[in-house]
Amino acid sequence: MRITIFGTGYVGLVQAAVFAEAGYQVLCVDVDADKVARLARGEVPIYEPDLQHPVVENGAAGRLRFTTDAARGVAHGDIQFIAVGTPPDEDGSADLTYVLAVADTIATHMDTETLVVVKSTVPVGTSDKVRAKIVERLAARGRSDLQFDVASNPEFLKEGSAVADCTRPDRIIIGVASRRAEERLRELYAPFNRNREKIIAMDIRSAELTKYAANCMLATKISFMNEIANLADRLGADIEHVRHGIGSDPRIGYNFIYPGVGYGGSCFPKDVQALIRTADQIGFDAALLKSVEERNNRQKSYIVDKIHAHFGPDLGGRTFALWGLAFKPNTDDMREAPSRVIMEALWAAGATVRAHDPKAMEECQRIYGDRPDLVLCDTRDEALQGADALILVTEWKAYNIIDFDDMKATLKQPVIFDGRNVYDPAAAKRHGITLYAVGRGTRN
Ligand code: UGA
Repeated sequence: MRITIFGTGYVGLVQAAVFAEAGYQVLCVDVDADKVARLARGEVPIYEPDLQHPVVENGAAGRLRFTTDAARGVAHGDIQFIAVGTPPDEDGSADLTYVLAVADTIATHMDTETLVVVKSTVPVGTSDKVRAKIVERLAARGRSDLQFDVASNPEFLKEGSAVADCTRPDRIIIGVASRRAEERLRELYAPFNRNREKIIAMDIRSAELTKYAANCMLATKISFMNEIANLADRLGADIEHVRHGIGSDPRIGYNFIYPGVGYGGSCFPKDVQALIRTADQIGFDAALLKSVEERNNRQKSYIVDKIHAHFGPDLGGRTFALWGLAFKPNTDDMREAPSRVIMEALWAAGATVRAHDPKAMEECQRIYGDRPDLVLCDTRDEALQGADALILVTEWKAYNIIDFDDMKATLKQPVIFDGRNVYDPAAAKRHGITLYAVGRGTRN
């Protein structure tokens, strides 16, 4: 079975590498000629653990190739995956321009029966639009005789563990409207479905909604915990005890109940917003999802509020060391990252930021360029030099262990703002450091 994947973003590229690793002949199509050239040389444009190796190895073995030539792409695959971006419009709904453009391209070049699989995260009903687009183009070509199926196959990988998630998925959701499409997708995924049945087949609209429901449920868990953390602060409770207490109930579980500085990344913020817009469009008030989004927007300023409470409204002349720019560890992605909201608020109040991140420094430089109030530091210790206080934003392992005595000697004021509840308040207190965490009060 030969596979064509349109779009070499996170989802498309990882899935392509994983399919090639399983032995399939994969051709990726992207409009970005520079990116295609780099990928063809084995250069992976994003930081993602374990991705470089399968891209290089399968590239060398001729199983994974890249092109800008859409006609060649369509001719190659028995299955055509659409994995292009669906960025938010001005009003937050998913922009389908790229998805529908690929559908049109496939219909323009196909000359045999094919299966079109939508992997991009798309609003419910998009596969119907893809189908309509293909019907329209085939009719315009006078080739309405050509048979095709459209299926939905959302992706559930996480940045930072994308290759592992894709290689050993929890579940494989396939939304289909025909037996032919289901059988072909079952055959395609057979190598990933060995130890237990992971394929869950359903109708297309349910598959599309499953993707949003999963991300929105996870975002809801996080916003819920952040809300309780705010209550814990005000009620004199410690959210870490509460987290342990409730996570022990298997109906709740320990996963995804870590309070922090708000969720970021390319998925949760966008998908929560898009589902709210979908609901609006059909006249339904998605009140819970709106609150999830609202809580998250406020949570990104949580640390900033603590900083102002400590240092006052004017931060002119102050310098803050900031550890962690990426929206989560093991990625260089800064899309919707809480670090951005925090840095921008600090700058607006007149402060300078000395930032460090194990992988996202180039991305930060790309976003903000050179500015006098941002100093990108090569090491975490360098970021501390001359700083009034430390802010931990992303819980990279490299920040887990700190020497409180060194901190006290280096920082102008012995204050740490811990946005991920990594450090032990009792130990900080013993060393005379003021530690502000999330939902743990300020009593230490
Ligand atoms: C998320 C989902 O977890 C994936 O299943 C999904 O496939 C993906 O979106 C997608 O739609 O493509 P991702 O955004 O890469 O994956 O990262 P997560 O590990 O889910 O983290 C998202 C955000 O939630 C991060 O900012 C993280 O810091 C935050 N988070 C996570 C918390 O604040 N608390 C938690 O307990 C867990």
